[in-house]
Amino acid sequence: MANVTVIGAQWGDEGKGKLVDWLSNRADVVVRFQGGHNAGHTLVVGDQVYKLSLLPSGVVQGKLSVIGNGVVVDPWHLVEEIAKLGSQGVTITPDLLVLADNACLILPLHRDLDQAREAAATNKIGTTGRGIGPAYEDKVGRRAIRVADLADREALEAKIDRLLAHHTPLRRGLGLADVDAAGLLAELEAMAPRILPFARPAWLLLDEIVKSGKRVLFEGAQGALLDVDHGTYPYVTSSNTVAGQAAAGSGLGPKGVGYVLGIVKAYTTRVGGGPFPTELFDAVGEHLGTVGKEFGTVTGRSRRCGWFDAALVRQSVALNGISGIALTKLDVLDGLPRLKICVGYRADGQDFSYLPAGLKAQAALTPVYEEMDGWSETTQGARSFRDLPANAVKYVRRIEELIGAPVALLSTSPQRDDTILVRDPFQD
Ligand code: IMP
Repeated sequence: MANVTVIGAQWGDEGKGKLVDWLSNRADVVVRFQGGHNAGHTLVVGDQVYKLSLLPSGVVQGKLSVIGNGVVVDPWHLVEEIAKLGSQGVTITPDLLVLADNACLILPLHRDLDQAREAAATNKIGTTGRGIGPAYEDKVGRRAIRVADLADREALEAKIDRLLAHHTPLRRGLGLADVDAAGLLAELEAMAPRILPFARPAWLLLDEIVKSGKRVLFEGAQGALLDVDHGTYPYVTSSNTVAGQAAAGSGLGPKGVGYVLGIVKAYTTRVGGGPFPTELFDAVGEHLGTVGKEFGTVTGRSRRCGWFDAALVRQSVALNGISGIALTKLDVLDGLPRLKICVGYRADGQDFSYLPAGLKAQAALTPVYEEMDGWSETTQGARSFRDLPANAVKYVRRIEELIGAPVALLSTSPQRDDTILVRDPFQD
């Protein structure tokens, strides 16, 4: 199989960055296809830590990297991230980075709206406050400014007028000052020469790449349960995060998606609001948060932590067409005497093998757990299954059975090389 699509199979923060970085060695091009700089990917290479939000993780390996049309791009953030990587010795040139010319921009007014709405809301989504949702709203509302518009002053002027006709009443309703059209135009014109050198028809480039027999690695952001259709709506992000979006968000047809690798954390976390049936509020939850260093890469918020939810991941396996999983952070469970795995839910005397869509039903769910013994030895840094304690292997095997997908990779520390390869997604 030529291509691999990596997606988060839970609520994000499963450790996709490390796996994408590791797999990008075997790929010719790495492509982001949804989300924006709400994503947070941490890559640890030796003693260097790279924190990426928008750039595909492949850039660190010097791989051709594409920001696809499905991504919403904050140009100010993009130049900042490029500069930051430059200061860490990674130089990003247009030979290395391609920005789809039909991707939509996130503007400061989107961030204002995101933050003002969150501040005013009683039932907060807990967004990253970076303007992602409002930018996608404008995309679907057909009033967004796209990368290519930066090269066309006349189009830009007309688009700003149309955009402000929508945003001005919204801003006034929220007590925000009006945006000065001439000021915004000047800012975008100043930004244009910094962004446009990277802009190209990414779909065309990908078509050529695939036709020449090269391999594409798609890098998803967030997780399947944050998908705007399939996630825990309305506590979701504003894009489709499932694997199928790799095709629409890049312009490569659906056959190009290839092997779908679901990244799965050995327990569960989420940031922001919304249902979380296996959430823990006790010492075990604290253990997972502290040992797992569960703080948001983008916002620094503490993540909510809980037991592994096999029902949720089983749902994700179906939604994404997952071929195999990469299990991460197993070592965080080291030393816990007993472990629980959620195998389904119960609500009002009814059993559910999946997360029902209704908010009331979701709130009423209690998890049904299976229990097993933990292990006292360390799994950190293990490089083969033989290095794992018997109970850790049992835990992994039980997860495979319950979710209906095999483990292709096991990540045993944030370091690139602490990875057990069971089957190579590019060869499968
Ligand atoms: P937004 O994407 O900023 O609109 O936030 C919507 C929801 O998605 C919130 O619950 C965020 O915490 C969550 N979210 C967005 N990006 C990430 C991510 O990269 N990891 C985990 N959660 C995320």
